[in-house]
Amino acid sequence: MTENIIETHALTRDFKKTRAVDGLELSIERGELFGLVGPDGAGKTTSLRLLAGLLDVSAGEARVLGFDLKEKSEAIKPHVGYMAQQFSLYGELSVLENFQFFAELFDVSSKDLAERTERLLEFAGLTEFKNRRAANLSGGMQKKLALACTLVHQPEILLLDEPTTGVDPVSRREFWNILTELHLAGTTILVSTPYMDEADRCSRVGLMYAGKLVECDTPQNIRGKLEGEMIEVQPSDWQKALETVSRLRGVREVQTYGESLHLLVDSGVKRMPEIQTSLKNAGIEVRSIRIAPARMEEAFISLIRRMEA
Ligand SMILES: Nc1ncnc2c1ncn2[C@@H]1O[C@H](COP(=O)(O)OP(=O)(O)OP(=O)(O)O)[C@@H](O)[C@H]1O
Ligand SMILES: [Mg+2]
Repeated sequence: MTENIIETHALTRDFKKTRAVDGLELSIERGELFGLVGPDGAGKTTSLRLLAGLLDVSAGEARVLGFDLKEKSEAIKPHVGYMAQQFSLYGELSVLENFQFFAELFDVSSKDLAERTERLLEFAGLTEFKNRRAANLSGGMQKKLALACTLVHQPEILLLDEPTTGVDPVSRREFWNILTELHLAGTTILVSTPYMDEADRCSRVGLMYAGKLVECDTPQNIRGKLEGEMIEVQPSDWQKALETVSRLRGVREVQTYGESLHLLVDSGVKRMPEIQTSLKNAGIEVRSIRIAPARMEEAFISLIRRMEA
């Protein structure tokens, strides 16, 4: 039997006038790497804070490791590592001193800390910076340090709120390599992210919208929810091209990516020649055109547009 390490039913959290989480139904199995995505204000942070036992439940139910959040939120804390969206390191403290601080917070013995420190430093690629003040680390290194600090008490569950936002792509990749290692070692990870390439690396992805989970599936199946095919066009004049193709039959949706257009169409083979002809007739040069596999990003934009329609 599979065990749900996180399970919520009709979980709701109100702030004065705002219902931030609205009847959330979420089940996460032990060992999953679950990605939470959704537009600003969808309720991702509030959900993670609820699951970390940091906010009171307004209504509904939630269990983490079998503990009821309403009654046993303190019992959950030793098992959970939570990295806040606006996490706080102590800038004046060195990398090592930050470890010590978090170890004390979670009652990690100095013997355990000594054993873990070297491994975590190595893991986070911070060995040579261990005496540097946190404030003097790069943004990417600070994120890795924050993650290492949330691992000091060896939590079974990691709740990470946009841990790589604003970090350069190389550091993001390094950070995700660490997450993948933790995932392979059996840690359950729930991570929110605005980056669709990151969502694509998860075993399952949930889309939050207005406090609810509106889609939840493997990345592959979510991409498959895009009904139709994607045509990628690079026109000489994307604004003019946008106007032209938006009016065409069979074109369900157009998204712009820099100067290229991604067209969601009913049939790629059928519409590609029609699109080429109409762009040509409008005096727009087509630099390249191809049928491209749908990406996570297009699938989500499309799903969110449908919610807003
Ligand atoms: N402490 C608070 N007091 C009042 N309203 C709040 C509070 N925290 C969150 N909210 C509101 O609840 C809603 C959900 O916010 P939340 O921070 O959970 O969204 P989010 O999905 O994490 O957004 P983002 O992508 O911008 O981080 C928003 O409307 C927000 O303004
Ligand atoms: Mg947030």
